[in-house]
Amino acid sequence: MDNKELITLALKARENSYSPYSGCRVGAALLAESGRVYTGCNIENAAFGPTVCAERVAVFKAVSEGEKRFVKIAVAGGRNDLPDDYFYPCGVCRQVLSEFCADGFEIITAVSPEKYFTETLDDMLPHRFGPEKVK
Ligand code: THU
Repeated sequence: MDNKELITLALKARENSYSPYSGCRVGAALLAESGRVYTGCNIENAAFGPTVCAERVAVFKAVSEGEKRFVKIAVAGGRNDLPDDYFYPCGVCRQVLSEFCADGFEIITAVSPEKYFTETLDDMLPHRFGPEKVK
C-alpha cells in the first residue's frame, strides 16, 4: 500500500473523530506487516483524562486482533473540516508505537494525500526505552 492510499484512509477515519472539547480532529491508519490496515480516530471524554489519541486507537485495535508487526502509520489532524496543520504523534503514542515498531518504522504526517512528511520512529523518539530493556 502506498502512502497516498494510507493517508486517504487516515482522512476517512478522521471523520469519526469525537472531539467536542479540543475541536482537534485526528485520524490514523496503521499498516500491519500482514497487509491489513487498522484505523483510529481520537475519542475525547468529559473527564479529559480518558481521552485517547487516534494513533493509540489504531494500535490497540490492531494488537487486539492479533497483529504485532507494523510497517507505517499515516496521521492526519487539524481543527478545521479539511486538515490544515501537521499533527505529529504525541509522546505517549510514540512510546506505544515503540513497543511494536522497529527504528525504521515510518510515520507519515499529512494534510492531504499530496502534502505530507515522513519520518522514522527513531527520528521522533531517539534513545527510546524499548521492550528489549525489560525482557
Ligand atoms: N491527538 C491525537 O489524536 N493524536 C496526536 O498525536 C495528538 C493529539 C488528539 C487528542 C485530543 O483529542 C486532541 O488531539 C487534542 O490534544
